[in-house]
Amino acid sequence: MKKTRKKLFLTECVIFFAVGSFFTLTVSAGATDNSCVDCHSKREFITTNKKLYTYYQRWEKSVHAHEGVTCIDCHAGDPAKADKKSAHGLDRKGDNVTLSAVYYSRIPDVCGKCHHAIVANYKKSKHYQYLTKDDLLEMRGANCVTCHDMGMSVADGNNLMPKAIASCKICHNYKTRNYPDIPARIQVVLQRYAEAKRIYSNLITQHQNDNKLPQQIKRRYANSLVSLVDNLHALRLDKVETDSSRLLAAMKDVRKKLRKGIAVKCD
Ligand code: HEC
Ligand code: HEC
Ligand code: HEC
Ligand code: HEC
Ligand code: HEC
Repeated sequence: MKKTRKKLFLTECVIFFAVGSFFTLTVSAGATDNSCVDCHSKREFITTNKKLYTYYQRWEKSVHAHEGVTCIDCHAGDPAKADKKSAHGLDRKGDNVTLSAVYYSRIPDVCGKCHHAIVANYKKSKHYQYLTKDDLLEMRGANCVTCHDMGMSVADGNNLMPKAIASCKICHNYKTRNYPDIPARIQVVLQRYAEAKRIYSNLITQHQNDNKLPQQIKRRYANSLVSLVDNLHALRLDKVETDSSRLLAAMKDVRKKLRKGIAVKCD
């Protein structure tokens, strides 16, 4: 569980770095030994190929960039080659989308190179079962980047959450008649999760050096947060609705007690 707490902390650090000037300093300081980064970061793309530049920026601001996960980890290619053609190699999609290393049905396995446990949970979901039904866009299952923008955390701010929910609506709406109630339901779950996580992090910080919040209680809620995310990746919607509601109520209760100076006990 130490790991989970460290991770929560890590997320905060990363957000701090991402909004600060850390990346701009390191990346624009000069040529790196990575041709993908050197070329794709060129500012001229802001005017000549805005979309291309946006993809670069999404990576640059992500946890992945901070952790040293770079373009070739997901896209393949040769970052030692300076010219576009040999750097891209054969894994570029060119005119044929299905050749892309990040063709939609390959994405879970690309992420699964590192996020084994999460992808294992995802593979229990209905989305995975429907992933390769590629005849109609709305009949495919969603994948990792439906919610995660190249590894930006969904719950790290208010900017990505509406994006994730808007993506659900592409397939879950009244026209497709594929569970049109899902976007509204998941919104409630994600909001509760984010709030519960925020309260938890604040309480951990405030009660670092006193014994009003016993280790056992801290561990219990850290576990609850993790299992909520596991069930979310497995798409157990009924379960995450119930669990997120319980967890948020419990976190508010703990906060209320501590504010009144009542020590929280293990039962
Ligand atoms: C010298 C410049 C240059 C280098 C080096 C370069 N790229 Fe590109 N890349 C581009 C440009 C320009 C495009 C836009 C499409 C085009 O012109 O082919 C592009 C397009 C892409 C695309 C999206 C389009 C597609 O066809 O898949 C990906 C993904 C990509 N590059 C990844 C990489 C990776 C990974 C590396 C390093 C191994 C890399 N690039 C190295 C300039 C470069
Ligand atoms: C963690 C994995 C990951 C990393 C690291 C990553 N990408 Fe991507 N990238 C993806 C995925 C997945 C997609 C396709 C999904 C999407 O469109 O959002 C994508 C899409 C793209 C596209 C658009 C492709 C198209 O079809 O037009 C470009 C360009 C691109 N990435 C460039 C880069 C460059 C350059 C880097 C490094 C600076 C990089 N990516 C790092 C996962 C990654
Ligand atoms: C080469 C290994 C690697 C690959 C491939 C990879 N990741 Fe990651 N990812 C990491 C590491 C390392 C971290 C930071 C430590 C952690 O949270 O586990 C991370 C963190 C994350 C986070 C958490 C961000 C946060 O705020 O804590 C998300 C979300 C994520 N990755 C999504 C993805 C998705 C989606 C893909 C596929 C498109 C992917 N990753 C591919 C290594 C990888
Ligand atoms: C329904 C939306 C959704 C989908 C689809 C989704 N995730 Fe997540 N994911 C979340 C949420 C919400 C979190 C919790 C974010 C947080 O704590 O900030 C999360 C957390 C993560 C984390 C961080 C976990 C940790 O222990 O801190 C990683 C890594 C990750 N997801 C990877 C993936 C990968 C890989 C896929 C595809 C197999 C995927 N996600 C699909 C919503 C989603
Ligand atoms: C690209 C299309 C697509 C997107 C985007 C999409 N879904 Fe789905 N979803 C599907 C398909 C297809 C099914 C399976 C439908 C069926 O069972 O007939 C499904 C099923 C589900 C189910 C299972 C319902 C049940 O009771 O079995 C849940 C929950 C779900 N989606 C949640 C989400 C959420 C949350 C999002 C947004 C983060 C999302 N979906 C985005 C296509 C999509």
